[in-house]
Amino acid sequence: MGKIRMMVYVVITLLVSIFVVISGLSQDDVKTVEDSAFEEKMRPPVPFLHDEHNEKAEIEECNVCHHVYEDGEKVEDDSSEDQECSDCHTLNKGDNPLSLVKIYHLQCRGCHQEKKAGPIMCSECHPR
Ligand code: HEC
Ligand code: HEC
Ligand code: HEC
Ligand code: HEC
Repeated sequence: MGKIRMMVYVVITLLVSIFVVISGLSQDDVKTVEDSAFEEKMRPPVPFLHDEHNEKAEIEECNVCHHVYEDGEKVEDDSSEDQECSDCHTLNKGDNPLSLVKIYHLQCRGCHQEKKAGPIMCSECHPR
């Protein structure tokens, strides 16, 4: 390979990897909920087309889901989208009254029940 071709090759490879890194951190790529804390899952990943879902559901604020609490109160102008739910909510109950499964069900199904829109049945969120 000539020197110039080599340089072009190196630059392109760099650009591609930068793109992959950036898009890997973007929420448009989120198509399922697959919390890494569940070690042995009983069910396949839950389909969740992040951006499309939130547009259809007309949810404006990220912290409707990615919330932050302080002294038991939700902080209105802060959000936690840089964290997984399980960074704060442990797999098993422990000291917390809500296990990781419960918080997902409370948030997802809870809103669907309240809004009378979106899936409520197990099999609608957990396709076999
Ligand atoms: C209806 C709830 C909900 C709303 C509203 C929401 N998100 Fe998310 N978001 C999630 C869930 C659930 C995940 C996946 C969590 C997991 O698998 O750990 C996620 C994941 C993410 C991720 C992580 C992507 C990755 O690759 O790890 C980012 C970044 C993110 N959301 C940003 C945002 C931003 C920015 C907003 C507001 C514009 C927003 N979210 C609104 C529920 C929501
Ligand atoms: C930065 C830490 C943090 C992150 C990240 C976080 N939570 Fe929470 N969450 C809390 C705290 C603190 C509370 C208050 C009650 C408690 O101590 O469990 C709470 C309460 C809840 C509750 C019960 C009250 C309510 O709002 O209905 C649900 C449900 C919940 N979280 C779901 C989620 C989901 C789903 C995610 C991921 C999309 C998430 N949380 C991410 C800290 C967090
Ligand atoms: C704050 C309210 C709210 C929360 C939280 C929420 N949803 Fe929804 N969801 C909706 C609404 C409203 C619809 C119906 C949208 C429509 O089609 O008009 C919906 C629809 C859906 C659908 C049907 C297909 C689609 O994408 O429109 C799926 C699947 C779904 N939600 C999964 C989830 C999961 C999984 C979570 C938790 C990670 C979640 N939702 C959290 C409000 C919410
Ligand atoms: C509105 C959507 C929704 C509905 C309805 C729902 N779930 Fe879930 N469930 C979730 C999400 C989101 C998670 C987190 C998945 C993950 O991170 O892998 C979850 C996690 C789980 C888990 C732990 C992860 C695993 O695979 O072992 C179990 C078990 C589970 N759900 C069972 C049920 C059962 C049983 C029902 C019906 C009574 C039900 N779910 C209804 C959304 C839903």
